[in-house]
Amino acid sequence: GKVAVMFGGASAERDVSLNSGKAVLRALQSQGIDAHGFDPSEAPLSQLLDEKFTRAVIILHGRGGEDGSLQGALQQLGLPYTGSGVLGSALAMDKIRTKQVWQSLGLSTAKYEIATKRDFDAGSCPAIMARLGEIVMVKPALEGSSIGMAKVTSVDDLENAIQNAFKYDENVLIEQFIDGLEYTVSILNGRALPSIRMATPRTFYDYTAKYKSDSTEYHCPSGLSEEDEMALGELACKAFDGVGGAGWGRIDFMRDQSGRFYLLEANTVPGMTEKSLVPMAARVAGLSFEQLCLEIVKTSEV
Ligand code: DAL
Ligand code: MG
Repeated sequence: GKVAVMFGGASAERDVSLNSGKAVLRALQSQGIDAHGFDPSEAPLSQLLDEKFTRAVIILHGRGGEDGSLQGALQQLGLPYTGSGVLGSALAMDKIRTKQVWQSLGLSTAKYEIATKRDFDAGSCPAIMARLGEIVMVKPALEGSSIGMAKVTSVDDLENAIQNAFKYDENVLIEQFIDGLEYTVSILNGRALPSIRMATPRTFYDYTAKYKSDSTEYHCPSGLSEEDEMALGELACKAFDGVGGAGWGRIDFMRDQSGRFYLLEANTVPGMTEKSLVPMAARVAGLSFEQLCLEIVKTSEV
């Protein structure tokens, strides 16, 4: 049938999605799939039916594409789509709710506080730092690609960081910074792919480190012992299942000096750009970008 590769969109991650989507579209077309690009910020979804699409491959990042709303609309239209459903997409988009679910499942995640725009009191900043430690990460609850995030090392900077994050979302997560190494595990059809360790000379693995910098290091295989690799893969699958994820996705972690892993967040439509992590892990697992894209299309068959 005719496949719509949905990318672009209107979220803050539009540019990332354009890069991810073009790469996926090209890969599917090169394998003889009747795939066409579809940008939901430029055409109404009803056009999917008018143009006789039979399937949607969702390569939209962020709100409006990765957060369950599109998934619900496609369901109503009767079009099969790739990846997670309504609930999993909505939960995973929200970093605060995601952590609440993981905590309730007994899965390890860094300590945190929540700031809400409507009742935020700057006077609470010293108490927040006292509870979380000397370094914290400030994150809008509903964003991706590190947009609106800051690493804060002094109480004087916390208020500004929170106010800045409020520009992106009314709910802000303030998370204890885990001093250690950063890892990610990609998930494809119930299986964990080899973990990747990311390292950057920047203050943290931010938007520039993710998409623009040549000095970001990626280690895959990540150098974990076989035992740790297995445990991390299992933890990633549990964390993904826990938020209702399906098909494919990626779970991000920090590992502290003592070797303990902490869950950071879940991504239900992870990046598929040249520099992205899922394609890197797939390659190490023996799957070309083209094969990976076909596997992703298959996640729409339920
Ligand atoms: N949010 C970006 C696209 C990622 O997780 O890769
Ligand atoms: Mg994310």
